[in-house]
Amino acid sequence: MKAAIFGATGFTGRLVAAELFRRNVDTLLLGRDEKALSAIEGAKDVRSVTLDDPSSLVDALRGSDVVISCVAPFTRLGEPIVGAAIAAACNYVDTSGEQRWVRRIYDEFGTRAAAAGVTLMPSATDDGVPGDLIAGLVVESLAKVETLRMHHGVFNGSISRGTMLSFGQIAASLPLAWQDGEWRETDAGTRAPVDFPRDGEQPSWAIPGPELITIQRHVAARTIEATMNLDLVTNVSLITDEVIAAAPAGPSDDERRASRFTIIAEARAPDGTTARGHVSGNDPYGSTALVAVEAAVRLGARGAPVGAVPPSLAFEPADFLNSLKPFGITWQVGN
Ligand SMILES: NC(=O)c1ccc[n+]([C@@H]2O[C@H](COP(=O)([O-])OP(=O)(O)OC[C@H]3O[C@@H](n4cnc5c(N)ncnc54)[C@H](OP(=O)(O)O)[C@@H]3O)[C@@H](O)[C@H]2O)c1
Repeated sequence: MKAAIFGATGFTGRLVAAELFRRNVDTLLLGRDEKALSAIEGAKDVRSVTLDDPSSLVDALRGSDVVISCVAPFTRLGEPIVGAAIAAACNYVDTSGEQRWVRRIYDEFGTRAAAAGVTLMPSATDDGVPGDLIAGLVVESLAKVETLRMHHGVFNGSISRGTMLSFGQIAASLPLAWQDGEWRETDAGTRAPVDFPRDGEQPSWAIPGPELITIQRHVAARTIEATMNLDLVTNVSLITDEVIAAAPAGPSDDERRASRFTIIAEARAPDGTTARGHVSGNDPYGSTALVAVEAAVRLGARGAPVGAVPPSLAFEPADFLNSLKPFGITWQVGN
């Protein structure tokens, strides 16, 4: 199995590279700066490519079983990498949290990927893939689902420069939620408080959960929406160009260790029966690298369905989540 990373010089890309090296996966590091790529600890195979040269991108990806894209922001930069992956018959994973980008992957690239025999999996992050998987497991106990609400909790979190750039893209549109058979823009305001497993009741705001796009492909519900315990609208308004320029690449090791995340799936049947489950872990960026690499290694083995495929349909959900347990990512289903 051979994996490639695009954006290996970034904060997340470096963590992804380290995880691939830890697993002894044959890894090609791609980016625009060959010197910076070669300086990455453990780098053996590096190649400089630019996004405005599609044929060199395709050439670079030929022979890899999977590419993990860690560029930022995806909405602005992601397209050439997906296009090249499809042309090179290389499976594709990314670390995007941008909901509109995830939707584009499904709507615009899924059919082409299926024809080329490759699988696309955007949002292989701490919350994207685990959110999709826990949602699939939670609804198993209900004959019919009326509403599915995903609640994101981030505690002691600090964000990378790349995430700041992506927040700019996320804030440019209203959150999408699934309502009565279609995607609708919802207001980005407050929602009812949410009871988190370790942290108790937290305030909540509507967010554009990227996992909603994948969940809707396998859960038939009237409403699918997402909230978070942080007010992204207020936080994004504080992220100016000056703040981004002065920010470190990402959280320090101590900050990473202190930060935690939980994603809850809460489903309700038409008769009022409810089901709930959650996934929790530490260090959202380190966990994203673990999730992205686990997804990439599984797709690289080339047994998954082709096209843009929700994690719950590509993997056995409990098996995937259990593979993350040794790294402190735990899950539970039950009220
Ligand atoms: N839960 C989540 O939603 C979650 C978790 C983790 C990460 N993420 C996302 O992952 C993405 C990466 O974050 P990050 O913090 O790692 O970002 P970052 O440190 O800014 O890294 C971005 C990468 O993209 C490359 N890049 C930027 N512009 C480019 C261009 N024009 N041409 C070629 N390469 C370019 C950079 O290369 P250079 O080094 O050459 O500039 C770098 O390798 C963000 O969208 C972030 O939100 C999401």
